[in-house]
Amino acid sequence: MKAKIAEKFKTLFGGEGDFFASAGRINLIGEHTDYNGGFVFPGAVDKGIIAEIKPNGTEKVCAFSLDMDEYVEFGLKEEDIPAQSWARYIFGVCREIEKRGWKITGFNTVFAGDVPLGAGMSSSAALESTFAFALNYLFDLNIEKFELALIGQATEHNYCGVKCGIMDQFASVFGKAGNLMRLDCKTLEYKYYPFHPDGYRLVLVDSVVKHELASSAYNKRRESCERAAAAIRKNHPEVEFLRDASMEWLMEVRADITEEDYMRAEYVIDEVQRVLDVCDALERDDYETVGEKMYETHYGMSKLYEVSCDELDFLNDIARECGVTGSRVMGGGFGGCTINLVKNELYDKFIEKAISSFKEKFGHEPKVYDVVISDGARKLQ
Ligand code: GLA
Repeated sequence: MKAKIAEKFKTLFGGEGDFFASAGRINLIGEHTDYNGGFVFPGAVDKGIIAEIKPNGTEKVCAFSLDMDEYVEFGLKEEDIPAQSWARYIFGVCREIEKRGWKITGFNTVFAGDVPLGAGMSSSAALESTFAFALNYLFDLNIEKFELALIGQATEHNYCGVKCGIMDQFASVFGKAGNLMRLDCKTLEYKYYPFHPDGYRLVLVDSVVKHELASSAYNKRRESCERAAAAIRKNHPEVEFLRDASMEWLMEVRADITEEDYMRAEYVIDEVQRVLDVCDALERDDYETVGEKMYETHYGMSKLYEVSCDELDFLNDIARECGVTGSRVMGGGFGGCTINLVKNELYDKFIEKAISSFKEKFGHEPKVYDVVISDGARKLQ
């Protein structure tokens, strides 16, 4: 990938730039908890974005996406927003850096990626983090690492229409090979957890479906949570996010909120607790409990949060039938992958069965990705 990027860069712009990379992510547990001030448990993966970048001394960004085979130029002012959605991620990062008072100039770039699109592995965070990290380095801005993640998140909010939480950009910036990370999305405290589950493998099964309107459905979930938290806050002023609420407190306001908002909040309150339970289980190397919690998350995402779909529910059922330790829909939902914790000896049988029965039912094969927990944003040599 690097060689192809370098070749195109030379043809388009002449000369050479510096290379930067960042990663997509998995999340062991803690889904839709980030924007509720709860905990998440992600790690960066060995699939990501690589970009070659060189400042060009003008006020213009000249960008080529190898994957889209498309060239776009845009300026750095608010009104220069490009039409192409991929370019908006880069533009957004530039704008968010400038809005925070740092100064950058234009640059030339060619980039490519291997995070499967629509798989729920956060290709967009990989793109944002690559550029946030790179621009910080190239223009010597001294932006703190957490701020780089926040710049990526603000890009999603203000230029891409997704009111996402901080998990993806955090994972993509802070990822460390061999480690998952527990992030408290309220205090922003985090801890690395070396993850080498002896006797098990983590594998993603990608349904290769991506449902339309995923971002508006995502934003609606967030609004439900905010309404439920606001209702609880009337009785318990200390509740800033749903993470601060108990099931008892949610029950007190059941009659004041819609059944839908109640279900969403119920899922979130349970899920925040599940992350903590998984952390405890990991301390004891108790992967059976980790797996049980993953199935509980799937149930909640499917029946209460309603972000699963037939394909993902089917993959989850197959995992259970095959005796897989843990399985659940990963990421925002509405398509994408399941993440599966599988005993080594069951791996082949599970994958074979998942592929064949999925194909029989839905007419196409799912894709399978082994999880390799890797480094996040970095400069390449
Ligand atoms: C998407 C968002 C994240 C998070 C997950 C669900 O990936 O970008 O902030 O909310 O969905 O856990």
